Amino acid sequence: MHSFTAEQIQQLNEKLSTPQEVLKWALDRFPSTMALASSFGAEDVAIIDMMMKINPKARIFTLDTGRLNQETYDVMDEIRNKYNINIEVMFPDANEVEQMVRVNGMNLFYQSIGNRKLCCGIRKVHPLKKMLLTLDGWITGLRADQTEVRSNAQRIEIDPQHNGIIKVNPIIEWTWQQTLDYIKQNNVPYNKLHDKGYPSIGCEPCTRAIKSGEPLRAGRWWWEMDPQKECGLHAEHGK
Ligand code: ADX
Ligand code: SF4
Repeated sequence: MHSFTAEQIQQLNEKLSTPQEVLKWALDRFPSTMALASSFGAEDVAIIDMMMKINPKARIFTLDTGRLNQETYDVMDEIRNKYNINIEVMFPDANEVEQMVRVNGMNLFYQSIGNRKLCCGIRKVHPLKKMLLTLDGWITGLRADQTEVRSNAQRIEIDPQHNGIIKVNPIIEWTWQQTLDYIKQNNVPYNKLHDKGYPSIGCEPCTRAIKSGEPLRAGRWWWEMDPQKECGLHAEHGK
């Protein structure tokens, strides 16, 4: 377990500014107990490229909900081959999924917000919590302009939602355009759904393309009206 105080974290945020500086600190400080949570969206593949240039042994895990798009599995394998890495794939607990679909059906998420949160809880949040119990810190691809709650996040923070481990958000200040520019300039493999109008990609049944002018996350759980929609991985930010 790390022993950083809130003050020390604040000092680190003042000292480290570029994504590479932040990542280097995180990977040097916790070489085997710091890992990137990757959904293989544009933000995450950009971070993977930076991480691999700093430490090719850095750890990457993903939460495979069982409901992802084929394009997401395609980019996972492209990344795996390009950087010659083993991605740690976390699956949901089979008993929990079996019980959930037996009681609520396969497409329960469309029936109510409660059912949607139940599904995100079982397929994403529980496996994340299980992984984070083994780590001193995790790295994410959060960007401040994605949602109001994310706008309060720091580059490095203590994560009260997960036993006070370190949470590292190296590109928190980046825009969507900066993310795309990095991918292009560094020839990073990316999810082909980004070329089909999907800026933000979650599970296949819960994500659609957006129309021009719509907010970047409008295609996530598009049938829900709350503009601050989250799946629970990062819900407590700024609260
Ligand atoms: S979500 O909470 O709405 O689903 P979003 O898709 O914006 O999150 O992704 C934000 C960050 O959460 C990603 O950059 C990544 O660090 C993490 N994340 C989201 N989904 C996954 C996933 N399936 N596996 C691992 N990490 C994920
Ligand atoms: Fe289930 Fe949809 Fe959440 Fe994926 S995004 S875990 S399918 S409710």
